[in-house]
Amino acid sequence: MAGHNSPHPTMESFQKINTSYEQYYATLKEKGIHSHKETEKGFWLSSVSTEVFDLFRTIGLEQFNHFADLGSGDGKVALIASLFTKSTGIEFDDELVQRSNQIKEEIGANNLRFIKGDFLEEDLSAYDILFVYPDNPLVRLEQKLLKEFRDDLIVCGGIYPPERLVKKRVVQINNAVFGIYRRGWLSGYFTGRRWKA
Ligand SMILES: C[S@@+](CC[C@H](N)C(=O)[O-])C[C@H]1O[C@@H](n2cnc3c(N)ncnc32)[C@H](O)[C@@H]1O
Repeated sequence: MAGHNSPHPTMESFQKINTSYEQYYATLKEKGIHSHKETEKGFWLSSVSTEVFDLFRTIGLEQFNHFADLGSGDGKVALIASLFTKSTGIEFDDELVQRSNQIKEEIGANNLRFIKGDFLEEDLSAYDILFVYPDNPLVRLEQKLLKEFRDDLIVCGGIYPPERLVKKRVVQINNAVFGIYRRGWLSGYFTGRRWKA
């Protein structure tokens, strides 16, 4: 961790993002399109902007070097994170990645990129804090993290909690619960790393 970023993003910069997403959802609604859908990899639902902003202020996201949202949907979480530090969104659905890039341009956000891809295939070692709003059990992601990631994973909601990572902290913002998980010191032992050849 190194604190080189924005410790106090303004409410104004957050509101700009929030308003863009409100307008986007209103446009979808006018067209009779839901702001959730099945994707090839799971199900897209958006986090609540204000809860995500408060979460990042609570944990001091600016202390981290590079944030990634695994399954970034329409890009909202990654965009809010970019107010604090360098941020990446990884999403498999083309349309959602395009939408994320459009809103990024509208806002004029820098410090931010979107990758169209499968986060299970990406090298996650470039990041020092990860976020996931799971739409499926986290078994494969956990296996990957146990092998190659030592830092914090924020898990939104309690429907699919990690089973093998260790819970360090819980942050509750209104009705939203965010668990912060990390590899236990013995975890590498049980992933097969110790037993290989
Ligand atoms: C519940 S949505 C969360 C969206 C966003 N993180 C948020 O909180 O607003 C989950 C997203 O993860 C994506 N997803 C699921 N598995 C994925 C994978 N293996 N690689 C990339 N995207 C994935 C889905 O397409 C969906 O858009």
